[in-house]
Amino acid sequence: MPTLNNSPPDRPLTGKRALVTGAASGIGLATATALTEAGVQVIGLDLQTASPFPCLVCDITSEGAVKACTAEAARRLGGIDILVNNAGILREASLAETTADLVDQHFAVNVRGAILVTREALPHLTNGARIINLASELAYVGRQNASVYAASKAAMLGLTRSWARELAPRILVNAVAPGPTDTPLLGFESMTANQQALEITNPLGRIGRPEEIAAAILFLAGPGATFFTGQCIGPNGGAAMT
Ligand SMILES: NC(=O)c1ccc[n+]([C@@H]2O[C@H](COP(=O)([O-])OP(=O)(O)OC[C@H]3O[C@@H](n4cnc5c(N)ncnc54)[C@H](O)[C@@H]3O)[C@@H](O)[C@H]2O)c1
Repeated sequence: MPTLNNSPPDRPLTGKRALVTGAASGIGLATATALTEAGVQVIGLDLQTASPFPCLVCDITSEGAVKACTAEAARRLGGIDILVNNAGILREASLAETTADLVDQHFAVNVRGAILVTREALPHLTNGARIINLASELAYVGRQNASVYAASKAAMLGLTRSWARELAPRILVNAVAPGPTDTPLLGFESMTANQQALEITNPLGRIGRPEEIAAAILFLAGPGATFFTGQCIGPNGGAAMT
């Protein structure tokens, strides 16, 4: 099995190259920033730009844009050691309110987008590369008014397990399934007290911070995770003990 690292022990990811989707906000921004601080050369893909790393403006629902931007990112990086499929959307709707468009929007970004980026990145992934997919605790426990989102996140688990088999042993593919995390996606500040109480019913009694999810992603990208593939780890405060 090829190893990912020949780096100093204090900065084990130094010299690696990462592509992070949805890198301009929330968990993606925290991940891209933490990777950069760990010595990784990062390029983000997002609808908007970001810093302190280069971020290409790319709508991952557009196959043409994904082809062009992934190729450009791979050219600039010279190869991809870490791919984080993080871009995602959540639009709440009850089953009765669910429209075909709402279903298509979720699956276009959360699932199809990740598939397209990974397919385009594949020729550039190095031996020992890591793919880390963002699932969600909701893939396991569900949530009222978020069934389409939960289904799209369950799909990420199916992709993770299938790609892990298909790409083994050259590439390791794992997922992270965060619990509620303080980002614009959650819209926590705009939630009612009842909704907030629902989100916090976990043993640690709080929602997560983006940096705590990034730490799990960095673990799966790093030298301590060489025997993980097809797995999903859940930084969720104990809300779902899978
Ligand atoms: N925040 C949570 O509570 C939580 C919990 C579980 C899982 N997640 C997952 O973590 C990931 C990151 O979520 P977040 O909370 O940081 O959300 P966020 O809204 O803060 O960030 C999502 C990013 O994805 C980008 N994006 C959206 N559509 C895109 C598109 N078509 N093309 C390119 N980029 C696009 C946005 O511009 C944004 O920068 C998502 O996959 C989400 O489902 C979040």
